[in-house]
Amino acid sequence: MRLLRILADGRFHSGEALGAELGISRSAVAKRLQQLEESQGIKLFAVRGKGYCLDGGLSLLDPQRLQAQLPGVRLLVEDTLASTNSTAMQCCRNPDPPCAVLTECQTAGRGRRGRQWVSPYAQNLYVSRILRVDQPTTQLEAPSLVVGLAVIHALRQQGIADCALKWPNDILVGGRKIGGILLELTGDPADSCHVVIGIGINVNMQQAVIDQAWTSMREQLGKVVDRTVLAVDLLRCLDQLLLRHREAGFAPLRAEWEAAHAWQGREVCLSGGREPVYGRVLGVSADGALRLQVAGEEQVFTGGELSLRLHDDS
Ligand code: BTN
Repeated sequence: MRLLRILADGRFHSGEALGAELGISRSAVAKRLQQLEESQGIKLFAVRGKGYCLDGGLSLLDPQRLQAQLPGVRLLVEDTLASTNSTAMQCCRNPDPPCAVLTECQTAGRGRRGRQWVSPYAQNLYVSRILRVDQPTTQLEAPSLVVGLAVIHALRQQGIADCALKWPNDILVGGRKIGGILLELTGDPADSCHVVIGIGINVNMQQAVIDQAWTSMREQLGKVVDRTVLAVDLLRCLDQLLLRHREAGFAPLRAEWEAAHAWQGREVCLSGGREPVYGRVLGVSADGALRLQVAGEEQVFTGGELSLRLHDDS
């Protein structure tokens, strides 16, 4: 990824200069750049006599700026990880784990329901917040909804006003996915354990093959977003809302969550359980379960494997 770090400034660099920097030939530079274009979904300009330039440059994470803006939060910032959630889970075995793990790219980013999370270099945000939980818990529904609200707050601060949530915790803009959340528990749920809150946000990504409709902050705002500023906003919003949740529970946040729910009142199909369930979204319960009106009666649903889609155009 050294080539990408050099090209991050968005200026032209000659193949010769890049080769000298890395100790490889010009043709080896051309080959590596072609591979990076394919694997990282980046757009490179190659101009005879000028060299190579990355369209819009890259907004790299700035660990010093991050730490200065988040003085109480011990950070682990890496260049490449398999998954920030995996690293965070491993860190929880240490007596004094960091509070949050961030990386420029993930080689095995994980989504919900065993899916892959596309994580190209220095384009999106990949962060895992580690929380120690001293009360016995296996209930992650309400915390995961609170995390969704925190992401919405951070996106609004950045100028994305019309972002919305889809139960349990997809982040959408105009029906397309801009972010996702994966909560994982590690340790003994009956004793002291840790919750790892993984958050992925599509920030500056312009092209990717993803099997569902997606968008990015760059597409919505029409400009490259500073990933360091976003990470600071996100971690601050997250800690504020988690504190409110710890002090007063989910009930006071419930109305706000429902107001942000893209599919409130819509006819949906809930899948991932034994059978698909068709119903109308009533909202969420005080502990974060989904409330559906099914055949004239209210039913509640929980479970990390459940997933909603619109039944038809209601
Ligand atoms: C989803 O919507 O399916 C959840 C996506 C969660 C992706 C984030 S990126 C940071 C963290 N590390 C991972 O491997 N996954 C989460």
